[in-house]
Amino acid sequence: MELRDALRTTGAVREFTGEPVADETLYEILDTARFAPSGGNRQGWRAIVVRDPELRAALRDLYLVGWYDYLALGRAGLVAWAPITDRAAETRALAEARPTTAREGFAEQLHEVPALLVVLADQRALAAMDRDFDRYTFAGGASVYPFVWSVLLAAREHGLGGVITTMLIRSEPQVKALLGVPAEYAVAAVVALGHPVRQPTRLRRATVEDFTTVDRFDGGAFTG
Ligand SMILES: Cc1cc2nc3c(=O)[nH]c(=O)nc-3n(C[C@H](O)[C@H](O)[C@H](O)COP(=O)(O)O)c2cc1C
Repeated sequence: MELRDALRTTGAVREFTGEPVADETLYEILDTARFAPSGGNRQGWRAIVVRDPELRAALRDLYLVGWYDYLALGRAGLVAWAPITDRAAETRALAEARPTTAREGFAEQLHEVPALLVVLADQRALAAMDRDFDRYTFAGGASVYPFVWSVLLAAREHGLGGVITTMLIRSEPQVKALLGVPAEYAVAAVVALGHPVRQPTRLRRATVEDFTTVDRFDGGAFTG
């Protein structure tokens, strides 16, 4: 498909048909995604294809812990785990987090997604330019998330859809213990892939003018 169309329509897919994702396909996706850029071209990502049903079930259980917290934070009107937020309100909301009685959804069925990929970041390889700042740091992630996004785009070429998830980072120590991940690695994302029940075609996104200005942050909108 056209690159422009792929970029404009690769939305989050969380519902998959029962059709499996062939290992060869998953290999080809990773073989394309590996051309993603990274700081110093150090390619500090690692991926684990999780097949084992018991590991998958354990990951789902850990995902649900974060998911229920996420829902509670949302109910309280908070942006879940935003670096700048009302911490007291967050603590109050989390104290009330509880399993939802909502219908079974993506989180509850995470163990059944056709392909499940845990992406790790080697902290020895990241160009974390903001490492020493006293604000929340995020530059290091920029060396890994282009790879994660390329996985989704490459999957599209095979008629697959999926979603980048970070919920399991809330349970990083348990995830690392479960998968035997060395201390130097951080959990960057868990990607679910499969054949979409529905392929999104129109994504809701802000316009260029909404987020681009000229010369200064408070400059005029860039209109092209
Ligand atoms: C860094 C990152 C983390 C995300 N974490 C999660 C997650 O933990 N669980 C989930 O269901 N979706 C997750 N998403 C998917 C977003 O919810 C999704 O990209 C966004 O809501 C846009 O949805 P749309 O493509 O359907 O418009 C994540 C996306 C990104 C880029």
